[in-house]
Amino acid sequence: MENQDLIQRGAWGSKVAFVFAASGSAIGLGNIWRFPMVVGQNGGALFVLVYILAVALIGFSVMLAELVIGRYTKKNPAGAFKFIKPGSLWKLIGYFGILTAMCILSYYTVIAGWSAGYLVKTATGSFKTGMTSELSDKLFTEFSADPLQTILFFLVMITITTFIVSKGIKGGIERWTKILMPILFILIIYLAIRALMLPGAKQGITFYLKPDFSLLSGKLVLFALGQAFFSLSLGMGIMVTYGSYISKSDNLVSSAGWVCFFDTLIAFFAGIIIFPTLFAIPGIAPTAGPGLVFKVLPLIFSKIPGGALFGTLFFLLFSIAALTSTISLLEVPVAYFVDERSWSRYKAAILVGLFVFCLGIPSALSSGGMAFFTKIDFMGKMDFIFLSLFLPIGALLICVFLGYVWGMKNATQEVLSGNPLFKLRALWSFSIKFLSPIAILIILYFIKTISE
Ligand code: PHE
Repeated sequence: MENQDLIQRGAWGSKVAFVFAASGSAIGLGNIWRFPMVVGQNGGALFVLVYILAVALIGFSVMLAELVIGRYTKKNPAGAFKFIKPGSLWKLIGYFGILTAMCILSYYTVIAGWSAGYLVKTATGSFKTGMTSELSDKLFTEFSADPLQTILFFLVMITITTFIVSKGIKGGIERWTKILMPILFILIIYLAIRALMLPGAKQGITFYLKPDFSLLSGKLVLFALGQAFFSLSLGMGIMVTYGSYISKSDNLVSSAGWVCFFDTLIAFFAGIIIFPTLFAIPGIAPTAGPGLVFKVLPLIFSKIPGGALFGTLFFLLFSIAALTSTISLLEVPVAYFVDERSWSRYKAAILVGLFVFCLGIPSALSSGGMAFFTKIDFMGKMDFIFLSLFLPIGALLICVFLGYVWGMKNATQEVLSGNPLFKLRALWSFSIKFLSPIAILIILYFIKTISE
């Protein structure tokens, strides 16, 4: 029976394949673009420290919870909750996750498209020497407001994503993440070393690694938690879906541990790339915000020796990281249509891909491409509703479901398969039942203040 299921649904070829694919989902714009941005805005090293604690104490527990549900049921999120609690409303968590995944995918891929556009621009020498901050600013504003270019690069990214997902688990996601992830690691380490060699790098490292405890605040902690959920791809059932392809003999605890470790490591290296570079060129503040990568980096690349190559590599890395995340976002709805509606994977990938493309057009046009969508800040609204609101709600519901509905006893039983000792069980139980839900409720309570 199990074999039959595996043949129909697909499965990871090995534990390493799962760790690569799940790390591919986790590592994305969140690590390379958002992590340095929030570190910069929240005073540097102390944020890094609190972030690491948030990942270890809460992110890791929620990830293990999602993997357990996925592997136990061998289903997509909607099917999984239905399977454990048939006839109840809990299956709505699954639908909620599928909706969130499609909506996040629609604008996330637009940003991935910007990155692809910048890759082409740097590779073809658009950011030559003599770049000023005004010019760089103007170039980004013009690029993101050009409907033709933004939609075209968006289309390229969603097409590649659809193609890979349509090829299935082993032949698509596994094969490609196994190629893309090692490239990403090598590139990021190379760039970090390159950044550390810049004159003036030391000041950036001090900002990034020497904590100033006087900066500790509630807001800092909340930001760190929110960033952890987003960065680890939690709260919408991605890890339920990826967990459903894991073998019963794999150790879920160490799998989750590796994914959290790699995700944090890449975010950490992204900071090592950004901060020394920022501090090496006076006049750029670490608090530059969302425009940081696209507006500021081309300026820096034009000033350092070998900058064109450095820049091309950076945007290549950025695009690869984004792509392995868009793949995981598309996989959630595709798994649903394959499992629950018996669609072929091919049909599901193409139809959902097409739908997401249509849904993303307003986002692509909301940075100046079309007055109406720009005025209502369509992309910003999508980001706030689905990322800041729906992800933590999803994670909260998963904790409540596991801790109080299905029960930690049943969940622990599933972990024991592949990890008979499970030494962290008491800590995990405590985190799922109390620590994580309370922390998320606090985030949700303060969400208004955070978004301002
Ligand atoms: N974790 C991804 C990143 O850091 C973003 C993401 C969030 C992907 C949620 C899938 C689901 O960029």
